[in-house]
Amino acid sequence: MGGQTSDVRRILVVGIGAGNPDHLTLQAVDALDRAEAFFLIDKGVAQPLNELRQEMIERHARADHRTVVVDDPPRDRDPEDYDAEVRRWHQARADRLGAAIEAELGDDGVGAILVWGDPSLYDSTLRVLATVDETVDLDVEVIPGITSVSALAAAHATALHGIGEPVLLTTGRRLTDGPSVENVVVLLDGQHAFKEVDPDTEVLWVAYAGMAEQRTIRGRVGDVADEIVAARAEAKAEHGWIMDAYLLRRPT
Ligand SMILES: C[S@@+](CC[C@H](N)C(=O)[O-])C[C@H]1O[C@@H](n2cnc3c(N)ncnc32)[C@H](O)[C@@H]1O
Repeated sequence: MGGQTSDVRRILVVGIGAGNPDHLTLQAVDALDRAEAFFLIDKGVAQPLNELRQEMIERHARADHRTVVVDDPPRDRDPEDYDAEVRRWHQARADRLGAAIEAELGDDGVGAILVWGDPSLYDSTLRVLATVDETVDLDVEVIPGITSVSALAAAHATALHGIGEPVLLTTGRRLTDGPSVENVVVLLDGQHAFKEVDPDTEVLWVAYAGMAEQRTIRGRVGDVADEIVAARAEAKAEHGWIMDAYLLRRPT
């Protein structure tokens, strides 16, 4: 994977940014124009998110591009062994994607996969492609994108940390496991894990960062936690889906 040989299938993994069509970088626009086929892994995500991907393809891809939908295999969301279930699911996903790439791209064909934000952050595409590469020879090229973390910081016009301080990036599920770091960015929190932290912690919350629907709340956890829970519920009811993230600044 990742070599520069020409007669091997090339897959462009394109970070498309955190939901605003203008997050697409010039490098990403160029990549969309290079791809002859787009592999869309249908994760059953909310329709507006699929529409955004389609809109970017229609706008920037070459006229004769093909779109190949790869259905995501079913996944047990509440397994006894979480890691084993994720490994099984990734293997099934790799099998389906590998078969689609082999069928749709010639030996030196160029395909693309569009990834929300950046592929380095809580996204399985690169791991799945590494598994595909065990059976179908591939060159993988990554085009980085604006992450939800950048969009969160921008929404609050803030740096993520004070001078020389560390930042921990984690998920709601792991928030209470982590070391006690001054600054913690949390993604993927449907359980309102912020309610469990010291109420004197400052929270900078954003939903739909960078998008027209953007909403922010900032304050002491003890003061604004209920407001965030209510805002999440309201936004989800209004739009049918939500993406939100937050920065926690631990009290010193
Ligand atoms: C599966 S992760 C993917 C992260 C993505 N690869 C990135 O670079 O940002 C999805 C999570 O990212 C966060 N997220 C993505 N887009 C967001 C946005 N526009 N506003 C707020 N949070 C967002 C949410 O926490 C969401 O649950």
